[in-house]
Amino acid sequence: MTTRHSHFAPSPTRRRFIAGAGAMAAFALTPAPGTAAPSRRDYRLIPAAATLPLVGAGQPPTALWCFNGSVPGPEIRVRLGERLRVAVDNRLGRDTTVHWHGLRIANAMDGVPGLTQKPIAAGAGFVYEFTPPDAGTFWYHPHVATSEQLGRGLYGVVIVDEPSPIAVDRDVVWVLDDWRLTREAAVHESFGNLRDASHAGRIGNTVTINGRVPDTFAVRAGEHVRLRLVNTANARIFTLTFEGHAPQIIALDGQPVAPHAPEGGRVVVAPAQRVDLVVDMAGDPDSRHRVIDSRDPRRPFRLVDLVYDRAPPLHASPLDAPVRLAANRLPEPDLATARRHDIVLAGGAMGRMRSAILDGARTDIREMVARGKAWSINDVAAHAMAMTPLATMQRGRTQLLRIRNDTVWPHPMHLHGFHFRLLSRNGAPVAQRPWLDTVLMERGETVEVAFVADNPGDWLFHCHVLEHVEAGMLAVFRVT
Ligand code: C2O
Ligand code: CU
Repeated sequence: MTTRHSHFAPSPTRRRFIAGAGAMAAFALTPAPGTAAPSRRDYRLIPAAATLPLVGAGQPPTALWCFNGSVPGPEIRVRLGERLRVAVDNRLGRDTTVHWHGLRIANAMDGVPGLTQKPIAAGAGFVYEFTPPDAGTFWYHPHVATSEQLGRGLYGVVIVDEPSPIAVDRDVVWVLDDWRLTREAAVHESFGNLRDASHAGRIGNTVTINGRVPDTFAVRAGEHVRLRLVNTANARIFTLTFEGHAPQIIALDGQPVAPHAPEGGRVVVAPAQRVDLVVDMAGDPDSRHRVIDSRDPRRPFRLVDLVYDRAPPLHASPLDAPVRLAANRLPEPDLATARRHDIVLAGGAMGRMRSAILDGARTDIREMVARGKAWSINDVAAHAMAMTPLATMQRGRTQLLRIRNDTVWPHPMHLHGFHFRLLSRNGAPVAQRPWLDTVLMERGETVEVAFVADNPGDWLFHCHVLEHVEAGMLAVFRVT
């Protein structure tokens, strides 16, 4: 078993267990040599305070909250078909939970306090156990006071490996985060303020990759790198350009897409989203290339430099190896019989919303603001995770959501428990209809998404700008 002191590595113990029929079916795709039953991987997560050199370069270390003493927390990695058991031991001194973002698992394992489980009290524990149904890049984070708990560093990545991974030279994760720090490199205490809540959220002043302010990323000419981008920021949207390179997108939110170049060469990663790239390191030995963020075109910044060593190219460019991932098995929406839902996001600074239903009563915007609320979904400003469902969905039936962003702010809208196909944006069909769990909606946009409601339970639908959630931008879908 894992000991309390083993921080990073999964337990080497891989125990057999009695598999359910579903797990057996999944495992049948990936027979491990010499094993008849699927294995299980055990992890222990310990949320607690820790002090880490986030900024480095002569700056003081930063007091954080994180899993197992590191930011990001331990990488949790299983093969498709393997079972995962994660024991959480809460040493944070306050309530928490762990939500498995993008993993289509049973409702009781979803980690939403008051909706799917009781919060894990200080000093208490909880065991999450499930078999991830999809290969891909996912992540985990608390779902209690999420603005503050994520904003102080509580998150980590979950990777579910494909039965036959694509051939690349390196498989690299870049967890992108954005921090609001003081001059002394301390986490700024300005959590829960209404300005962030009613504007763009807690935008920070310090961007990290894998918990460090980056400078260079060492590469070798000709190598093919699978680069898994995960945006764990509270509010910052990244728009990345790899100067001198032509990355191919191979998966979005963990789900494979036909490899393609990002529009205009810009890789957009909104809060909670994942983008898997394959990058052909086509630069010359000993060269240097910038990765630029240009979300705000007036203020682009250099995220990191790709720095080539002197070694001769590992392969001839351009990239010619097949990099298409096999699709996961998701139920295909049947649009002909879909139940339709119209969803309107309203509120925020400079918005048109004048009132909303708060705690069951029509409430004027001033009164809402006085109570910390700034947003509504279908006229309701949510106050807690447990609430009257916005819609009740028949299990197994296709649901088509038409979502309109009637605000002047972007919102990455996330649905728990499902991936949906993105069908259209502003009336125009979307190429490939990708499966997503979080769709970025720019100001004024309308999208249509569809999914089969095959997973019973109460599921959150919310903006992943975490300050917006706390100010009312969430709803519940009930699948029965
Ligand atoms: Cu990352 Cu409620 O989600
Ligand atoms: Cu939002």
